[in-house]
Amino acid sequence: MRSFDAVIIGAGAAGLMCGIEAAKRGRKVVVIDHARAPAEKIRISGGGRCNFTHLEAAPKHYLSQNPHFCKSALKRFGPWDFLDRVIAHHIPYHHKTEGQLFCDNSAKDIIDMLLGDLRAHGGELWLQSPVQGLDQTPQGFRLSLPDGVIETTKLVLATGGLSIPKMGATGFAYEVAQRFGHGLITPRAGLVPFTLGGQKLDYISGLSGVSLQARARIGKTMFEDGFLFTHRGLSGPAMLQISSFWTPGQTVEIDLLPGTDALAVLKERRQSTPRQHIGNVLPDLVPTRLSERILEVTIIAPETRIADLSDKRLSALTALMQPWALIPDGTEGYRTAEVTVGGVDTTQVSSQTMESQLCPGLFIIGEALDVTGWLGGYNFQWAWSSGWAAGQAL
Ligand code: FDA
Repeated sequence: MRSFDAVIIGAGAAGLMCGIEAAKRGRKVVVIDHARAPAEKIRISGGGRCNFTHLEAAPKHYLSQNPHFCKSALKRFGPWDFLDRVIAHHIPYHHKTEGQLFCDNSAKDIIDMLLGDLRAHGGELWLQSPVQGLDQTPQGFRLSLPDGVIETTKLVLATGGLSIPKMGATGFAYEVAQRFGHGLITPRAGLVPFTLGGQKLDYISGLSGVSLQARARIGKTMFEDGFLFTHRGLSGPAMLQISSFWTPGQTVEIDLLPGTDALAVLKERRQSTPRQHIGNVLPDLVPTRLSERILEVTIIAPETRIADLSDKRLSALTALMQPWALIPDGTEGYRTAEVTVGGVDTTQVSSQTMESQLCPGLFIIGEALDVTGWLGGYNFQWAWSSGWAAGQAL
């Protein structure tokens, strides 16, 4: 039977970082994964270019029942620390928006860097190795794998959340953590498109592909970014961001003209160009296909002169843009969600080392924990930071 100082289950962003750090410190480490290839989410992330961090990543960019939990790890291994590694490996990168960093070439550059580092420090990687049995022993843990039984003193759960089951996502970390007494903050899909049904879906039919800049708000939480109509509902960065804060039944307020008072603009146009047709005025505010749909829904002929529209009718037009308040029917769920909101409750996990306070020797890192970042590189940064922190303690 082979024995290790540390076995890390999950060869994703968090698990690989953790393995590298522990191996660097001379620990005998193996990272195991049930998938055929490691780091599949890194591979597909950021449209294939991996938005690997955000230089401004700070605790305020994370959702958690325990908002202080992420502070220590983010401080000790922050975005600049990860960027240093990217630079040291000569990986070309660029800012998409200020601080939001992507690879110039391919996400594969990041995967190669991580696998190369793990190998260079003597860490092993075993793929297609599902855990068939897990027992606690006086020295640590015993794991049954298809190729035999292994023992370890430290065990790290790095199997991520539930999003994209087709790529091998499982609730493994949740099950094991619960078995050792940890609570679970009910997981739900985050950074996910909304779905609409009934009349709301009828309203957006034919708008699929129309995009614009919008502001999405739930209560005091607000994001201004790209917005996209889809065949099934609403997407784009602004909607993905707000989806992480949404619970079924809640109203989302969408401003399709952030920074512009649409009603004031239309009233001004009624004064300055009274003979203009509303069908020619509205496309100055929103994309043509959307303006046509708004006129259809409000039963206003496009040839209507703007002078002939009362305040009430202009208000009916702008109500579909500003704020457009709607209750989504649901989300596309884990099938397309970029993250899982919720996860293993952090209250009995050390924020310094990610070690369980209920089961010494057990560590939980990455997305499996109840720490969820905004869209923009924050989730990988949490994976790097939490993986690094655990790696120092193995
Ligand atoms: P991750 O899910 O990466 O890794 C878990 C590993 O565990 C996987 O290799 C899996 O096969 C393995 N595993 C699962 N169950 C197992 C079991 N029972 N036994 C053995 N192994 C098991 N974030 C960001 O910051 N920037 C971005 O650009 C993107 N883009 C993006 C695009 C898409 C399409 C998705 C789905 C997600 C993103 N994300 C992102 C989010 C980011 O990918 C995510 O937060 C991190 O990958 C989480 O890293 P972890 O290592 O915790 O889990």
